Amino acid sequence: MERLPGFRDFYPEPLPHTDVWSADARQYIFEKWRSVARRFHFREYDGPPLEPLELFTTKSGDEIVGQLYNFTDKGNRSVALRPEMTPTLARMAAAHERNYKKPVKWFAIPQLFRYERQQKGRLREHFQFNADILGETDPAADAELIALLIDTLRAFGLTERDFVIRLSSRNAWQDFYTKGRRGQSPAAPNGGKEEYEFFQVIDKLDRAPESETARKLSALGFSLPDVRRFIASGAPTPELDAILRNLAARGMKDFARVDYRVIRGLAYYTGVVFEAFDATGEFRAIAGGGRYDNLIKLISGGRVDLPALGFGMGDVVLLELLKARKLLPSFDARVDVFVVIQDEELRLQSLKLAEDLRCAGFVVDYPLTPSKPDKQYKRARELKASFTARLESDEYVRITNPESRKEIVVGVGDAANHLN
Ligand code: HAM
Repeated sequence: MERLPGFRDFYPEPLPHTDVWSADARQYIFEKWRSVARRFHFREYDGPPLEPLELFTTKSGDEIVGQLYNFTDKGNRSVALRPEMTPTLARMAAAHERNYKKPVKWFAIPQLFRYERQQKGRLREHFQFNADILGETDPAADAELIALLIDTLRAFGLTERDFVIRLSSRNAWQDFYTKGRRGQSPAAPNGGKEEYEFFQVIDKLDRAPESETARKLSALGFSLPDVRRFIASGAPTPELDAILRNLAARGMKDFARVDYRVIRGLAYYTGVVFEAFDATGEFRAIAGGGRYDNLIKLISGGRVDLPALGFGMGDVVLLELLKARKLLPSFDARVDVFVVIQDEELRLQSLKLAEDLRCAGFVVDYPLTPSKPDKQYKRARELKASFTARLESDEYVRITNPESRKEIVVGVGDAANHLN
């Protein structure tokens, strides 16, 4: 039985095959994500992996809707596996925002599902670090979030030579669009829909063939040279300027620059948007996000109006980049103490010793069934045990350092202290 294409098996290291992923590396990434988020005083939340289909169909935009894993459940409900976390966060915030002081700073590490074409950096399932701030319109919040994004990448050992945050603004693009449409007839008959189509073309500028882009732009009343000129001008809007100054004050000037090629594919973004890329441009986006000041209002049917912004960082591209830059530590399985049971008469007392050492915080293993001592010592070496501990009697334990061969016999009650 094979696993589905675009899905992953995670094995403990050393990995048995090139086609599987490291459960140890995944845990390493999750721990970094959590610890940096907590340092920025973000609190962890989570939601269900299965949501009503409608949560995604009206708010995220056509691209993501086309990638949904959706079906009808046994209660005849239309449901979908979550392709992203933001609509769930908006739903949760709308339900209980009154219980939380603003600004709300929350993070999550959901597994997400998108029926995408499998390619480098894109799978049908990935884990995504999400960090969002709700209830603040000032660009200070955007800067705080981008600083978190920068520090998260730095926590893995990446530097300003490895990645860059491309900052942009949907407001700037909206101005460009409105000015371009002015005087054209018929004047934007579909309003928002055409604007979104235009945004989609800009979003794919680097990836789509130039002739196709030019044709699509011209159908919308725009020319590719005009678009390119606007991107090249790169003049920061006042909000982008405020963010850049804020980041500079933190010593993060070199990590971010204005780049109007970024516009983001999702429909709900309203203001500042950004993406993190590796400096060589060799990989897909590491992270992406921005402001979505209307989404909570939309999802709550107008009941709750909360400005919001956030980003998502996937584990797939991040892992590719860390591997390429040799920044992943090795994840040797090792135990602190291997309890050797030479005399089966002492098995029960040995179990107590193992338990006491575990309670004291050591990683402890021992033979589950009787075996020859030399086999046990071999196993201890295979497990790279820092020490072996063997009961000599009810009262005394012999602790050995297998490398230096140094030994000491101590009272059973002193074993943990001694190992410390
Ligand atoms: P997104 O740009 O769709 O944004 O995804 C964010 C990141 O998730 C991407 O930059 C990429 O690293 C990773 N990612 C996305 N799709 C895949 C895939 N199929 N395979 C592997 N990695 C993938 C969002 O999802 C927004 N909801 C983020 C956000 C949070 N905006 C505001 N708050």
